[in-house]
Amino acid sequence: MSIHKKTELKKVTTHQLQEMKKRGEKIAMLTAYDYSMAKIIDAAGIDIILVGDSASNVMAGNDTTLPITLDQMIYHASSVVKAVKRSLVVVDIPFGYYQGSSGEALRSSIRIMKESGGHAVKIEGGSEVKDSVLRILSAGVPVMGHLGLTPQSIYKFGTYSVRAKEETEANKLIEDALLLQECGCFGLVLEKIPAELAKKVASQLDIPVIGIGAGPDVDGQVLVMQDMLGITTEFKPRFLRRYADLNSVITKAVNQYVSDVKANEFPNQDEKY
Ligand code: KIV
Repeated sequence: MSIHKKTELKKVTTHQLQEMKKRGEKIAMLTAYDYSMAKIIDAAGIDIILVGDSASNVMAGNDTTLPITLDQMIYHASSVVKAVKRSLVVVDIPFGYYQGSSGEALRSSIRIMKESGGHAVKIEGGSEVKDSVLRILSAGVPVMGHLGLTPQSIYKFGTYSVRAKEETEANKLIEDALLLQECGCFGLVLEKIPAELAKKVASQLDIPVIGIGAGPDVDGQVLVMQDMLGITTEFKPRFLRRYADLNSVITKAVNQYVSDVKANEFPNQDEKY
């Protein structure tokens, strides 16, 4: 008699992320917005997939994250969820769908969870979104915070430069981080802040702190997939490491295809019915 041992693929949960922080195991997070790419990065071992509102930039070609709608976020998230076997899927609540009231924030989160099948939501801001965070959590929806450079507030900031370099803003960020943890957030993204400040926040919090442009002394890292794969080329912040040059790979492949089609070299005898 043969025993077929099924290898169980353990899904990443918010509880597991907490355990990873306790063990000192770093958390790897990337964005994805569609089925095909989500399938690849999930199988490659990513812990968290963020369906970020950066889809507004990299998928829709907008200059900011502000124009993307809740319906569009749900469309991207539902495509990602269908591909995922292991990763935790976190979905951004887009600009204009939570700032009005905590009730609006709750309704938007419930739509995301119900219509996309995502596992958690992410919301930008600190004390100003406290009521919304509490309301969303009260419905059993896990919430991830996002502090530092919060791109939905770009017109308030005026630039995408490093945040919280001054003491007052740094102190407010620390207070907000502690508040979000106290509210019950399972994790926190810190974007583009001094590494020393990020280190301080990560050491003060029990929940995992995931950095983007926040240095190495946090509990994990997140990058926008199109940036780290070298699909986008114009965006060159210091924190971005490009792990591939897919722009060149794709350009070369398409050049070859065009020339094969024009020369009637594609399809060949073996490629026809
Ligand atoms: O929308 C996004 O991609 C994000 C990351 C930059 C953290 O929020």
